[in-house]
Amino acid sequence: MSHRVIAIAGKGGVGKTSISAILAGELVKQGRCKALIVDADPSGGLGMALGLSVRRSINQLRVDTIQEIKKKTIDDRDLSKQLDFILMDALNEKANLAFIAVGRPEEVGCYCSVNNLLREAIETLSIKFDVTVIDAEAGVEQINRKVVGSVDHLFLVADSSVKAITVAESIDTVFSRINRSGRTDLILNRIESPEQADAIATRTHLNVLGWIPEDSTIRKYDLEERSFFDLPACPAANAVIAIVEKTGILTGIGLQAGPMTANDT
Ligand SMILES: Nc1ncnc2c1ncn2[C@@H]1O[C@H](COP(=O)(O)OP(=O)(O)O)[C@@H](O)[C@H]1O
Ligand SMILES: [Mg+2]
Repeated sequence: MSHRVIAIAGKGGVGKTSISAILAGELVKQGRCKALIVDADPSGGLGMALGLSVRRSINQLRVDTIQEIKKKTIDDRDLSKQLDFILMDALNEKANLAFIAVGRPEEVGCYCSVNNLLREAIETLSIKFDVTVIDAEAGVEQINRKVVGSVDHLFLVADSSVKAITVAESIDTVFSRINRSGRTDLILNRIESPEQADAIATRTHLNVLGWIPEDSTIRKYDLEERSFFDLPACPAANAVIAIVEKTGILTGIGLQAGPMTANDT
């Protein structure tokens, strides 16, 4: 099995967390590969959508580590090993899935060595999994700062608004500048008809991998704070599964060769 890192990005409110949660649910249901699920949005909605608690966020871990260095309870020389260990301990595991949240950044000065080691520790951690799914924060900043160094596949999510498509396109521009080997696809969400999806597809240069319908079950699960692990088959979930099946993510196989288009299922 090859290891793959997938990031789900786009404007706020377009459905990144819902799609990540549906994908996580399907990864557990199929149980065919080991997945690391990262909630990289500081507002932290993915844990809630999955009903998984955050044991210790990566930013909390960073703050604690810096305090320990100051108190000299951690030796600088052991830092890298310690971070690997602490990071493993911070994972919330469910079946074949492990969950971790980035949390809110706190101002604790520039401890670049800790930040760099932590980034390395996350990369080392993600290599232990067949697939890593990152629910990114809204906008372009996180992609710009390369929060996770090597994203193989960027899923940009947009609803039917012009603003959402514009944000997706600008994230793609930044991503393709800093990551030349990664692949980008657009997923349209909350779509009302195939005609609407086709009309949007003609207005963007991004490859539309598929579209997800507006679905009251998604809204309901969100409103009632129910875990997406219990989400029944519904039009939106079926669409997400059909889209990700084209990419081989669920089985942990490598990227398919050739173009993946919206209407080939
Ligand atoms: N396909 C859909 N049908 C109906 N409601 C949706 C759909 N996708 C997302 N939503 C709703 O839109 C809102 C924002 O979704 P969310 O996944 O939190 O977006 P993001 O993570 O991009 O900010 C939530 O209330 C969610 O229930
Ligand atoms: Mg979100």
